[in-house]
Amino acid sequence: MKRELILRIRDLYISFRTAAGTVNSIRGVNLDLYRGETIAIVGESGSGKSVTMKATMGILSSNGKVNDGVIEFYSKDNENAVTYRILEMSKREIRREISGKRIAMVFQDPMTSLNPTMSIGTQLMEGMRHHDKLSRAEAWKKAVSLLKMVEIPEPEKRMRSYPHQLSGGMRQRVNIAIALSCDPEILICDEPTTALDVTIQAKILELIQNIQKERNLSVIYITHDLGVVSKIADYVSVMYAGKIVEQGTVNEIFYDPRHPYTWGLLSSIPDVTSDQKLFTIPGSPPNLLHPVKGDAFAPRNIYAIGMDYLEEPPMFKITKTHYAATWLLDKRAPKVHMPTSLRARIDKMLREEGTAYDE
Ligand SMILES: Nc1ncnc2c1ncn2[C@@H]1O[C@H](COP(=O)(O)OP(=O)(O)OP(=O)(O)O)[C@@H](O)[C@H]1O
Ligand SMILES: [Mg+2]
Repeated sequence: MKRELILRIRDLYISFRTAAGTVNSIRGVNLDLYRGETIAIVGESGSGKSVTMKATMGILSSNGKVNDGVIEFYSKDNENAVTYRILEMSKREIRREISGKRIAMVFQDPMTSLNPTMSIGTQLMEGMRHHDKLSRAEAWKKAVSLLKMVEIPEPEKRMRSYPHQLSGGMRQRVNIAIALSCDPEILICDEPTTALDVTIQAKILELIQNIQKERNLSVIYITHDLGVVSKIADYVSVMYAGKIVEQGTVNEIFYDPRHPYTWGLLSSIPDVTSDQKLFTIPGSPPNLLHPVKGDAFAPRNIYAIGMDYLEEPPMFKITKTHYAATWLLDKRAPKVHMPTSLRARIDKMLREEGTAYDE
């Protein structure tokens, strides 16, 4: 089946005015999302994952400015194709046409994103009444069925509950129900399970996956947790200092990573079957108040070559779906392989999974 592009981000540049000066937080992000697929965006804190998605939803904070780029959303409303150029729309137009309606977002903290003074039912029905112009009775019925879908027990009763009466996991289910209440085409999940314990996290992930299949939803899933990525994503984009430095299919990123930063991230996943000490990438990301010369990762990269300090690496193509921005992929670069401990780990995974990876 031909893949159908639904969201296209090109050359996105965003800066923030701060007391210390202008921070160039997003430095040329490119991203494609296809209908019905899931991409995960991973990267350390501050790399620009949330800001990129907030720009897509038209909810950048007022000190933020998009300096360049294109965000196009190819919507299909009852089979009518409409292209929305998000960056050319006013906040008001985005609120009316896009956010909460065609593109919905679930945030990390299930408490702060719900209004503590309003019942669950009122919050669930708000979007449907506003965007879909449903009557109160219709909205009530749909809200109850959404609570059922996210597997909240006694949904009728829960409609009258307030957020503080629910557990963290239940509140996050309500958030997902709210996000789905206007039948969005794209669901953006920004660390939706970080605040939850592991078993609840697994259930929420499963829920998102089931709903996605049922509705052919396109999902962007932001997380620090590479374990989650391997379960949920079709494609992975690795972000570093406001850029995507590697992208590929899940298999390409997990079994054939090419960027030293991705090597570091993968090496820092705890391996429960070994007593090897957990790896952490040394140093910290650059301060984007100052211009970056060369590859932003170079100072932390033990494999850095001279070129890394001079010029920013382009995205080198490895396969039709796999790209990485590191000078190590340049023809002239010395041959460098991933760390042997990571190689051993990947080989072990491959052995355990049979020959799942044969692209
Ligand atoms: N309101 C703001 N004012 C100033 N700078 C901001 C603001 N919001 C974001 N930034 C800058 O943008 C950078 C990227 O922020 P973002 O929230 O996208 O990071 P993230 O990758 O989502 O990190 P985390 O994993 O911690 O959520 C930050 O490092 C910060 O410098
Ligand atoms: Mg974030």
